Amino acid sequence: MANFSLPKNSTIGQGKAYDHAPGAKRTRTFSMYRWDPDSGENPRVDHYRIDLDKCGPMVLDAIIYIKNEIDPTVTFRRSCREGICGSCAMNIDGTNTLACTKAIEDIDGDVRIYPLPHMSVLKDLVPDLTHFYAQYASIKPWLQSQTPAPPDKERLQSVEEREKLDGLYECILCACCSTSCPSYWWNSERYLGPAILLQAYRWLVDSRDEATGERLDELEDPFRLYRCHTIMNCAKTCPKGLNPAKAIAEIKKMMVARTL
Ligand code: SF4
Ligand code: SF4
Ligand code: FES
Repeated sequence: MANFSLPKNSTIGQGKAYDHAPGAKRTRTFSMYRWDPDSGENPRVDHYRIDLDKCGPMVLDAIIYIKNEIDPTVTFRRSCREGICGSCAMNIDGTNTLACTKAIEDIDGDVRIYPLPHMSVLKDLVPDLTHFYAQYASIKPWLQSQTPAPPDKERLQSVEEREKLDGLYECILCACCSTSCPSYWWNSERYLGPAILLQAYRWLVDSRDEATGERLDELEDPFRLYRCHTIMNCAKTCPKGLNPAKAIAEIKKMMVARTL
């Protein structure tokens, strides 16, 4: 029988507990994954009890409060603070989501915070997205057209053509969907995953793009596209309410249609 074991340095230990809310009426404990590659130590989970009346309502507000007031070494990404940049994606209370749009009051009990799953961790809550972005670049996410643009106006679309981009253009490339997808966990070297495939479909259905055939050729591969098994984790977790699984199904339909 196969015998699997994890490397010793992957075991998560108990970290420190900080009580920063003695006597406070509304408190919550945030249990946060911590790992510093320079320390040589194993990852740990630190616990921070804070006064909710002293910080904003979102999980990101609490993380910023903890960094500013308790532990300046806490490391995470964030930028826009309003669900637009995608950089604060992390696993909160067991679900991949955006820390800036996740309300603390929507979570029962302690708030458990981990980096996005199945990605290499650079430090604390920061995953390494190098491969994810390389996959994004591989689908050539820009308009490809042989026809020169009109000299005096934009390349126009009808209302119906523009509507085809709804549910696609809103994607902020946060990677919540791809890192919730079991097929991506096990085959991320070769399977593009839901986020990148949704983006690929966004260009396939753009009426102004003239590289549809080449784009489909690039995706016609047992791994790049066909590892999606319609498990639907991607649609369940997307913080923008998008449905990457549907986009993937539409690409598969386009593949079939061009053979008929
Ligand atoms: S489809 Fe949703 S979850 Fe996936 S990258 Fe785009 S915004 Fe994030
Ligand atoms: S539907 Fe496809 S892309 Fe979405 S989680 Fe399942 S296997 Fe992954
Ligand atoms: S900080 Fe930009 S999406 Fe959360």
